[in-house]
Amino acid sequence: MKREQIPFERFSMEVYSVWADRWLLLTCGDYASGQYNAMTIGWGSIGRMWQKPFVHVVVRPSRYTFEFMNQYDTFTLCVFPPQYQKALQLLGSESGRDSNKIARSGLTPIASRLVAAPSFDEAELIIECRKIYWQDFDPTHFLDPKTEALYPSGDYHRAYFGEIMAIFAADARYAGKSK
Ligand SMILES: Cc1cc2nc3c(=O)[nH]c(=O)nc-3n(C[C@H](O)[C@H](O)[C@H](O)COP(=O)(O)O)c2cc1C
Repeated sequence: MKREQIPFERFSMEVYSVWADRWLLLTCGDYASGQYNAMTIGWGSIGRMWQKPFVHVVVRPSRYTFEFMNQYDTFTLCVFPPQYQKALQLLGSESGRDSNKIARSGLTPIASRLVAAPSFDEAELIIECRKIYWQDFDPTHFLDPKTEALYPSGDYHRAYFGEIMAIFAADARYAGKSK
């Protein structure tokens, strides 16, 4: 898919519904060596931190992707057109530990422009990131008692901040333009 770079200042999307309904694909590792993994994510944020455009993602230690997030310096977030929801369902329900789920999803890994982690050819939005911070959630700091119920096996997420290095989009609406 053809995509153009969008300056951070112009970047725009329906943030909540993309995270909640469209989902994103988090991919971490190194495209050149073939060492990478991807998983679907639905929790996170995009904004500004430490003077930089940034994203925040959360990964449970039980995920295979967790190993890549700790070992490698970069990751990407991809948003896909609705027809790829089935692929995202697969990448979000099976582990790369057990099979080559990326090949089975039918999505096509490609080299990113600025970072070692791959992107995907079918993506309508690609956000290339450099890891700048991580921290494990501390359940003693949960202020809403309902939050603990989301962790029945104590598999508390590790949060990662990524500095956004570049954003590429196929749709002008991501650059704040109406169609
Ligand atoms: C819609 C959706 C959203 C998800 N969001 C997250 C998330 O934000 N963090 C997380 O750790 N797992 C999340 N998951 C679960 C992982 O994608 C899933 O466990 C995946 O199979 C892990 O793959 P891996 O073992 O290859 O890393 C989500 C799954 C789906 C379907």
